[in-house]
Amino acid sequence: MRRIFRIFVPVMSEKVPHYYNYELMKHINGDTQMTDVWRLPAIAPWEKSCGKHPTQKPLGLLSRIIMASTEPGAWVLDPFAGSSTTGIAANLLGRRFLGIEQDETFAKISKARREEIENIKTFATYKRKIPDIVKKEETHTNCFMCNEPIIERLPFLEDVSAATYDDVLMYAIGEAPRKKTEPTGKLAIGIKDGALDSVNISNIGYIMFHYWNNEKATPYKLLSTPRLVCKQNIPSGYMLRMGNDADEFVLLEYDPMKPVDIENCDIKKVMRTGKGRYLPFVTSLNSIS
Ligand SMILES: C[S@@+](CC[C@H](N)C(=O)[O-])C[C@H]1O[C@@H](n2cnc3c(N)ncnc32)[C@H](O)[C@@H]1O
Repeated sequence: MRRIFRIFVPVMSEKVPHYYNYELMKHINGDTQMTDVWRLPAIAPWEKSCGKHPTQKPLGLLSRIIMASTEPGAWVLDPFAGSSTTGIAANLLGRRFLGIEQDETFAKISKARREEIENIKTFATYKRKIPDIVKKEETHTNCFMCNEPIIERLPFLEDVSAATYDDVLMYAIGEAPRKKTEPTGKLAIGIKDGALDSVNISNIGYIMFHYWNNEKATPYKLLSTPRLVCKQNIPSGYMLRMGNDADEFVLLEYDPMKPVDIENCDIKKVMRTGKGRYLPFVTSLNSIS
C-alpha cells in the first residue's frame, strides 16, 4: 500500500529574530564568552530515577541549551522526546514543553519524570543539582522571588498555592553573640556539609534564635524569600555568621523589632541530634507548636 505523507511547514508571517542570552552564558562560563565546546559532567544516577533511555542526555546539557536560547515562558518542542530530558529541563526553568515519543516505555518514563518534579521539594532539589541553574539564580535573584505569581511560571504545580511556606530556620547561638547578631535583621549564615541539601529553602518563612539550654527561642518572620549564595555574592549590609569553611551562605532578612508570637513553642522537641547538631537546620511550624 502506498502511503502519502503530507508535511506541514510552518510559515512565519514575519521574521522572528534568533535569541541567544549572551550575558547569562558569559556569567555561567566564569565571565568569559561561552565557546562552542562545552565540558559537562556525565549523566548522574538521580537523573535515571524513573528508568533509563539508551541515549538520555544530562539535564545540565539541556538546561544550558534552553537557558541560552529561550526566555521564561517559551514553548519548547522535542518531537523525538525519548525520556523527555528536554521537557524536564524546560519545566525546571519555567518553560513549557511539548514532547512526541512513539515508544510507550519511554513515554511512561517521561510521564513519571514530570510527576516527580510536581513535588515542590524534588523540583527545588533538582534545580540545585544543576550548576548552571544555580549560577543563573545567583545573578537573577528576582527570578524566584519576583512579583509575577509563581503559578504562571509553574503551570503544572496546581497545588503550589496550598504550599505552607512555614518552615523555620533554627539557629543556635550563645547569649553573647546573640546580642550582637539578632538586632542586625540581615544575616548571611554559613552552611556546611550540605546541611540544607534536602530543604526547599524557599519554604522557609521564619528564623528562630535559640540556644540549646535556652528554652526561650525568638522567632522572626522573614521579609523576603531566603536564598543561598556563595561568599562573593553576599550583598553589603549583611552580618556574616559561621563563615569559616562554609560552602555557601543563606541570606535572611527580618525585622528585629518585631519578633512573632508562635504559641506553645517547645524548642526541646526540635533539637537536632547527631552530626552537625550546631549547624542551622530547618523544621516546620507543625513540629514545634
Ligand atoms: C535519540 S532519542 C532522543 C531522545 C531525546 N530527544 C534526547 O535527546 O535525549 C530519539 C527518540 O525518538 C523516538 N522516535 C523515533 N522516531 C519517532 C517518530 N517517528 N515519532 C516519535 N518518536 C520517534 C525514539 O523512540 C527515541 O526515543
